[in-house]
Amino acid sequence: MSSLSQQKILFIDDLPNLCEEMVTILRSVDLDAEAMLSPHAAIPRIARGEFALVITGLVIAELNGFEIIQRIRGAGSRVPIIMVTGYGTEQSAIEAARLGVADYLTKPVAEAELIARVKRVLKQNLPQESDGPRILARMISADPSMNSVFEKVKTIASTESRVLILGETGAGKQVLAHAIHDQSRRKKEPFVEVNCAAIPANLLESELFGHEEGAFTGASKRRIGRFEAAGKGTIFLDEIGELSFDLQSKLLHVLDSGKFCRVGGNKDQVSQARLVSATNRDLIKEVELGRFRADLFYRLNVICIELPPLRERPGDISILIQHFMEKFVAPSQKPPIIMPEALSILTRYSWPGNIRELQNMAEQLAIMKAGEKIGVVDLPQRIIDKGTTETQTSPFVAESIPFRTARDQFEKEYLGRLIMQVQGNLAEGARIAEMDRAQFYRLVKKHGLTSSSHQNANT
Ligand SMILES: Nc1ncnc2c1ncn2[C@@H]1O[C@H](COP(=O)(O)OP(=O)(O)OP(=O)(O)O)[C@@H](O)[C@H]1O
Ligand SMILES: [Mg+2]
Repeated sequence: MSSLSQQKILFIDDLPNLCEEMVTILRSVDLDAEAMLSPHAAIPRIARGEFALVITGLVIAELNGFEIIQRIRGAGSRVPIIMVTGYGTEQSAIEAARLGVADYLTKPVAEAELIARVKRVLKQNLPQESDGPRILARMISADPSMNSVFEKVKTIASTESRVLILGETGAGKQVLAHAIHDQSRRKKEPFVEVNCAAIPANLLESELFGHEEGAFTGASKRRIGRFEAAGKGTIFLDEIGELSFDLQSKLLHVLDSGKFCRVGGNKDQVSQARLVSATNRDLIKEVELGRFRADLFYRLNVICIELPPLRERPGDISILIQHFMEKFVAPSQKPPIIMPEALSILTRYSWPGNIRELQNMAEQLAIMKAGEKIGVVDLPQRIIDKGTTETQTSPFVAESIPFRTARDQFEKEYLGRLIMQVQGNLAEGARIAEMDRAQFYRLVKKHGLTSSSHQNANT
């Protein structure tokens, strides 16, 4: 079976005949298609990630095509969507592009054309073939610096190895831990998380391993701990760098023996959970300073994944802002549109709070500025101040360089940002740049900025 035929396609329309016709056409070329008449029933399945592609009509009684897209995005799904309509107007095409549809077809569509466009979108979204946005569980990224993270997660999916995640605060360590669990054979078992920094040291042991009745004052009943709750699933120990020395020894014993004992108990319990841990501390330094046990560090660090901070993933800024704005905007409203000047500031800002900080900003914008265009003045003042001064990349502050080189640098930077902003839709990029399409494509190609993922449907 080809990889395309393993990608499940959902067609949504309230006309049974149309559904039947569409499914027949797609199945005739070995594509795996099904149809649903009710958008309300479809959305939860889409949100669960059951489909690789959604095709929707525009005029549907229950919810129109645009509302369907907004609900799908609101439910956190980034599944590519193709809109097929017999009621297309220029306005609806613009609206569809604004909502980021992968393709927009007006009827009548020839069968061959339909199949070609569907296959193209499916191909663009095959994770191994695309250098566009990648999605793994709830982890989204479009920046090449995250490729190795995605590759590692896939490589270790079938192993049982312990994983240590290193990354700054808010960089997405927890999301990554989830993705590891979701990709593993344990995905149907529990994913249990313990934030070692959030639980007082004297309670943490019982939190992890449970306690027997009367183990300490206040232990009125027996309670199972997180290791037991995790069963054959994954236990995620976040902020492991904060673990007291005493607990480090106890954890080491669990990892070595595969057994633990409830506090106040004397019977060994078998630990079957896979351990994933994370810290924003420099653990090697902590080991050197004698604050973290070297033997524990080596046991935890079988596979190490370093999550780059957001400032090293500029390609993620636009797509994550878009994702969060769509997620947080009220269902009846449209997300704001970030203008290029504002995006340029956002891309230069250093995001000390990483994705959490970006998410908070996007949520605020989605609520306060729904449907509006976001210019520089609409950004939080601290971002404007820092985003403007943190310009390290401007060619014009460099030492004397020939005009040609400076122009090339400018072109590349300008186009790169613009393409990011329009999410690869080159036709839209040409329009904003007020350039002839052919000339725009030539420049994009000259600077090596094309990729299959940038050949959007509207180009
Ligand atoms: N790649 C991503 N795609 C989508 N959402 C993300 C991504 N990375 C992080 N997030 C979101 O950003 C927020 C912060 O992420 P997370 O809690 O995983 O960070 P963290 O590194 O564990 O932070 P801390 O060190 O403060 O615990 C969460 O709401 C998470 O859902
Ligand atoms: Mg965390």
